Amino acid sequence: MSSELRVEQLRKVFTTGRPPVQKAAVDDVSFTIAAGEIVVLLGPSGCGKTTTLRCVAGLEHPTSGRIVIGGTMYTDPQAGVLVPPRSRNLGMVFQSYAVWPHMTVRQNVAYPLKARGTTREAMNKAVEEALDLVELRSYADRPVTQLSGGQMQRVALARSMVYQPQILLLDEPLSNLDAQLRLRLRDDLRRIIKRVGLTALYVTHDQAEAVVLGDRIGVMRDGKMRQLDTPTEIYNRPADLFVAGFSGASNVIEGRVATRRGDQGAITLPTGETLVARLGAGVNEGEAVKIALRPDNVDLAPVGEGGNRFKAHVRSRHYQGSQTVYELDLAGTTIEALEVGSNASHQEATDIMVALPPDLCWAYPASSD
Ligand SMILES: Nc1ncnc2c1ncn2[C@@H]1O[C@H](COP(=O)(O)OP(=O)(O)OP(=O)(O)O)[C@@H](O)[C@H]1O
Ligand SMILES: [Mg+2]
Repeated sequence: MSSELRVEQLRKVFTTGRPPVQKAAVDDVSFTIAAGEIVVLLGPSGCGKTTTLRCVAGLEHPTSGRIVIGGTMYTDPQAGVLVPPRSRNLGMVFQSYAVWPHMTVRQNVAYPLKARGTTREAMNKAVEEALDLVELRSYADRPVTQLSGGQMQRVALARSMVYQPQILLLDEPLSNLDAQLRLRLRDDLRRIIKRVGLTALYVTHDQAEAVVLGDRIGVMRDGKMRQLDTPTEIYNRPADLFVAGFSGASNVIEGRVATRRGDQGAITLPTGETLVARLGAGVNEGEAVKIALRPDNVDLAPVGEGGNRFKAHVRSRHYQGSQTVYELDLAGTTIEALEVGSNASHQEATDIMVALPPDLCWAYPASSD
């Protein structure tokens, strides 16, 4: 039975060092995951993803805040409520292959059911179903030590789902796998979780993984949730400069807002040229801004007229086979542009016309980070 997860004003302060220093690893984080939804926490190392997940699991005692699962209060330090991990009925999958090395695949998957005193008949049925789900039925009687990394992670997944947890918690489950296996298992994971209809909280620092796996993505930094939204919103309407940069909008162009009209504005660049961009809330006329733009959103072959046309000088070209990265000098700044496909259309040291789609140029206050 999958359940809704509510995290309310979660805060976890660690005290470390000598003299002791207090630091909030998770700082007033609130979010809700609907039953059957997958939410991915994404952010750089140390931003508080694992601590958030451990608080949900009951492995970490928050300083304040509440964790509500399926309408039941599991954590509320102010009220003295802290349900222990084993009583939360959660499934967990971690980075390391936490499988029992002395057992077979089947014994590993059956283990949580044995510990719960399930009848033999019900156990056999559930184990067979779980093994089918992760496509390991034919490996059932192999010792887990004779499996590949990806297969071991599938055993860990089957084992965490076999007792039908309320919520599945996954912390970088793919990070120990090689690149190819990682891509395959990434797609498999979403399919398997969706087939069972589990509510899942998934932690990663890999933006591509977050986009493929999550119904919604929560981008974190320094213990704070910066934006929680669908992958398309995160990629097309990043809330701030950090979310834009972390999700791949690596180009930053500086300027000043000349005029604002609705949610768009004309930005004057240092060269005197004008660029039209989407303005975030609270960006005013006369204000200095930083404009974020994804390399893959630079239009290297604009057709027709209008729409932020600029002359650009091709400073360098990096052919990568299935794509080409260009470094372009444009309006006094250097930006990167990406051309998809095996054909690289432009030569180094030439001048070309490019367009920067106004809707995909996002302006934020220059003081933000
Ligand atoms: N037990 C602890 N004692 C003291 N500080 C801790 C402890 N656990 C985590 N921290 C600190 O809390 C912050 C958040 O850590 P956390 O493990 O949640 O980050 P993360 O987002 O999972 O990072 P990563 O991507 O590297 O796994 C870090 O600054 C970390 O050093
Ligand atoms: Mg972590």
